[in-house]
Amino acid sequence: MTQTHFDQAANEWDQKKRRVELARAIAENIALLPLHTKMTAMEYGCGTGLVGLALAPRLGSLMAIDTSKGMLDVLAGKIKEQGLTNVTPLCLDLTVDTCTQRFDLIFSAMTLHHIGETGLILEKFYHLLKDYGTLAIADLDSEDGSFHSAGAGEKHYGFSREVLSEILLGLGFSSVTFKTVHTIQKVYEAGGKRDYPVFLLTAQK
Ligand SMILES: C[S@@+](CC[C@H](N)C(=O)[O-])C[C@H]1O[C@@H](n2cnc3c(N)ncnc32)[C@H](O)[C@@H]1O
Repeated sequence: MTQTHFDQAANEWDQKKRRVELARAIAENIALLPLHTKMTAMEYGCGTGLVGLALAPRLGSLMAIDTSKGMLDVLAGKIKEQGLTNVTPLCLDLTVDTCTQRFDLIFSAMTLHHIGETGLILEKFYHLLKDYGTLAIADLDSEDGSFHSAGAGEKHYGFSREVLSEILLGLGFSSVTFKTVHTIQKVYEAGGKRDYPVFLLTAQK
């Protein structure tokens, strides 16, 4: 269901100002990490590349993974248009598929809440990182379920920072930090507005 939702949303994905602003804030904060142009990076749940393409010039290579072919097609179009040579789109679901490459940096934006098995995917990220590699994940703080509209296929209503921190430390990550990087404001047709803070967590293998 999630895949169909994102396939259908792909062509108009970048037209929502709210998404572009969020992706910019996330990319600007990931860019504060010590990136360099020899780094091998992977973005999980890359969508149309709003975050990844902003960071690609600072990286050696970027493997841009998503399960939605529609999203990846839009990304492939941008890669071609911009003549980028260091970004490779890949259709893969790491909750079931394997990947043999190892990375200096793994980042992900607004995707973790679409994956049921949080511990399993974070464990995969741990194994896919090289020693001393960095994990950077942006997602919603715990919310009441009002963030998504019907059919979006979310598996979590955001996350508790404490719970994520415990999982990461249990897997062997260190230096786990959280920072609020953006607040999404939604105005509802039925009346009222609501704020949804977004964190960026970083952790070291
Ligand atoms: C909310 S969108 C975020 C896209 C992009 N990161 C951005 O910030 O614009 C979530 C993305 O996660 C992808 N996704 C959902 N489940 C996934 C999974 N199990 N593995 C990889 N990607 C997944 C969706 O196809 C979608 O592109």
